[in-house]
Amino acid sequence: MAPTAITDVKSTSREHRTAAHTHIKGLGLRSDGTAEPSSGGFVGQAHAREACGLVVDLVRAKKMSGRAVLLAGGPGTGKTALALAVSQELGTKVPFCPIVGSEIYSAEVKKTEALMENFRRAIGLRVREVKEVYEGEVTALTPEETENPLGAYGRTIAHLLVGLKSARGTKKLRLDPSIYEAIQKERVRLGDVIYIEANTGAVKRVGRSDAYATEFDLEAEEYVPVPKGDVHKKKEIVQDVTLHDLDVANARPQGGQDVVSLMGQLMKPKKTEITEKLRAEVNKVVSRFIDQGVADLVPGVLFIDEVHMLDLESFTYLARALESPLSPLVILASNRGLVSPRTSADSAFSHTDDDLPPSPHGLPTDLLSRCLIVPTFPYAQPEIRSIVASRAKIEGVQLADPALDELAGVGAEISLRYAVGLIGPSAVLARVAGKTVLGSGQMGEKEKSVVNVGVEEIREAKDLFWDASRSAKAVGTGSGWIG
Ligand SMILES: Nc1ncnc2c1ncn2[C@@H]1O[C@H](COP(=O)(O)OP(=O)(O)O)[C@@H](O)[C@H]1O
Ligand SMILES: [Mg+2]
Repeated sequence: MAPTAITDVKSTSREHRTAAHTHIKGLGLRSDGTAEPSSGGFVGQAHAREACGLVVDLVRAKKMSGRAVLLAGGPGTGKTALALAVSQELGTKVPFCPIVGSEIYSAEVKKTEALMENFRRAIGLRVREVKEVYEGEVTALTPEETENPLGAYGRTIAHLLVGLKSARGTKKLRLDPSIYEAIQKERVRLGDVIYIEANTGAVKRVGRSDAYATEFDLEAEEYVPVPKGDVHKKKEIVQDVTLHDLDVANARPQGGQDVVSLMGQLMKPKKTEITEKLRAEVNKVVSRFIDQGVADLVPGVLFIDEVHMLDLESFTYLARALESPLSPLVILASNRGLVSPRTSADSAFSHTDDDLPPSPHGLPTDLLSRCLIVPTFPYAQPEIRSIVASRAKIEGVQLADPALDELAGVGAEISLRYAVGLIGPSAVLARVAGKTVLGSGQMGEKEKSVVNVGVEEIREAKDLFWDASRSAKAVGTGSGWIG
């Protein structure tokens, strides 16, 4: 029952959410590209991590578009975790679009249409645009209220008075109430540096004015200098959008905000669905921007998890889409061995499962031949132990050493996923048994209670929840019903 050590003050509350991969912060590679035994939340799987590091370098150098990487390995060997680490390494400026193979089956949208949409979500465009803006440090922020014209209770905002200060002067602006909402959304307060686009009223918070840099502030803040020049001026603005954003904005111009106003000058606004024709038009404008040097293409990553869930039509489409000049890097993950690719989404109606010969990872061979394959391997017990330990930490669970050993044993014997899955239930059991201790809270933070899980709770959880193989044994003798 050691008191929790002092940890860093974090500005976000990310650690309180417990999605399956929250402990993964990156690939954990050294500067020479080799893998640390344990870093970035990653443990072991060194070869695959190093290979993914190369993939990151290639994407950054824009040399990887139109190619595919296949992560192939058993369930729970870290394929999904690897792909998410790649996205973290690439940062927020490179688009990363994760989907699961089965996601493309929907009653409303055609499979190939859904695939295309996600392809376009994975291709970014960095557009430089000169816009008329008001930019400065906020010196005043006063809503002007009026009586509610409908005579109801309360008052409504008629205008917002904003004072902006730049190096060359100050300006007072009277703004529309709709801009007030945008300002609230960006959480603008006095002393922030913001700019407001003159045409659209879009508000962007740039950072905190560095005049306030000495103020006592626990939050990580970005301090920026008071803008040079006049408050009202023309400013080059860099925007990161995806091709899909452009499709949406041009299909429904009145709803889709002003994504890139340059687009509007070249394409007639229309109200339509996103069609092949519209995409072709968007592509044309995009390549013109690129030729003029106004925009850069940023090919990102499309990640298709559980790719063996796709069917033949989708595989064919995928292979063809990879050939197009506007293609991202595609990362696929499959946990299948030697099986036939699915020929149809509803094989109940087309008993053709054995039409295709079995091929590795459930992918048709022509697609497979375009892939660089990165294998992932099952973990040894010590690796499982340390993965379980980092998951427990994220979930706010204290595992005594014997409990950790027990879970590592379960992981090695049954599966990593099962072991990780038992942490939550055993923590609940421990809490019910009153095994909570008070962890020392950080400065100004409330004291947090931590559950202390022992071997008993883990065994109990293991009895309550079966793993797949135990279930399989139990139903194995039946005839399709649990009888
Ligand atoms: N090498 C690793 N280091 C840390 N955590 C891992 C590692 N490999 C897998 N995990 C974690 O184990 C769980 C299962 O891994 P996952 O990536 O879902 O496997 P797969 O996609 O191959 O089936 C996830 O919570 C994942 O974050
Ligand atoms: Mg997975």
